[in-house]
Amino acid sequence: MESRVVVLITGCSNGGIGHELARAFAGRNCLVVATARSLTSMSDFQNDPRFFLQELDVLSEQSVTHVLTNVLDKFGAIDVLVNNAGVQCIGPLAEVPLSSIQHTFNTNVFGPIRLIQSVVPHMASRKKGKIVNVGSCSALAPGPWCGAYSASKAAVHSFSDSLRLELKPFGIDVITVVPGAVTSKIGDAAIVSYSQMPEWKLYKKFEEPIRARAHFSQGPKSTPAEEFAKRTVNAVLKEKPPTWFSIGHMSSLAAIMYHLPLFIRDIIGRKLMKC
Ligand SMILES: NC(=O)c1ccc[n+]([C@@H]2O[C@H](COP(=O)([O-])OP(=O)(O)OC[C@H]3O[C@@H](n4cnc5c(N)ncnc54)[C@H](OP(=O)(O)O)[C@@H]3O)[C@@H](O)[C@H]2O)c1
Repeated sequence: MESRVVVLITGCSNGGIGHELARAFAGRNCLVVATARSLTSMSDFQNDPRFFLQELDVLSEQSVTHVLTNVLDKFGAIDVLVNNAGVQCIGPLAEVPLSSIQHTFNTNVFGPIRLIQSVVPHMASRKKGKIVNVGSCSALAPGPWCGAYSASKAAVHSFSDSLRLELKPFGIDVITVVPGAVTSKIGDAAIVSYSQMPEWKLYKKFEEPIRARAHFSQGPKSTPAEEFAKRTVNAVLKEKPPTWFSIGHMSSLAAIMYHLPLFIRDIIGRKLMKC
């Protein structure tokens, strides 16, 4: 009998993409290790035997080691790691506190690398595994007001390309998933951290478009997270998964922007973001 695929996902709080990915993997008969910083944010999964719920903070080495030990003790394997947890960082690069930029990179870049370094020895010993890194369309055509976030996601895209080649000899697939605009709590979370930013000096008059950038991906046409998750899971579970794919509202626009000459991209970016 085929053993069930064990999938570990970071950032599975209710209302976000991770939560829907957990549901979609479970719907495909996987055993899902749904992780989040707080178990209460996944309470709807609590009595469902398809889920093994664990508290995991991607910033903590201790937390990652503890969860991986628990999972390997319970299931003996991790087949798929999904690095989904992430934070936005809204504000002009010249004035965003360095500590906020560092927090963004710690969460979005060093968090996934911490998980990857912990799980690779196990996957390599079995000569199989899949590592899914969640990037962002905003890294394809970075505009103003979220430079730190876009740069962190560009780093995810870039390190995933290196990792894919480095892990090939060990039978491990690396998959970059690039969401467009997908419904989640990312805008609300961004506003909470934005409220802790200092008052802008040079950028006072741009306060309105800067603040509005927090919810840019959360419009009425945004792709429902459930739909995004189902399509992502279908791709990831293929025997030969795609190395890179983009799903979601505005993902085609972002792909076009990526290929446009910079002077045209700048005209569009300035118009869209009012600067
Ligand atoms: N939604 C979009 O349109 C969009 C577009 C492009 C890329 N993305 C990417 O998609 C991924 C999921 O985001 P989302 O849209 O679902 O946003 P979300 O609803 O805000 O979810 C983000 C998740 O990351 C978790 N997280 C944050 N810091 C963490 C940490 N230190 N350790 C563990 N978990 C942590 C959050 O946990 P808490 O609930 O505890 O804060 C939450 O579960 C992110 O990587 C994001 O950058 C989203």
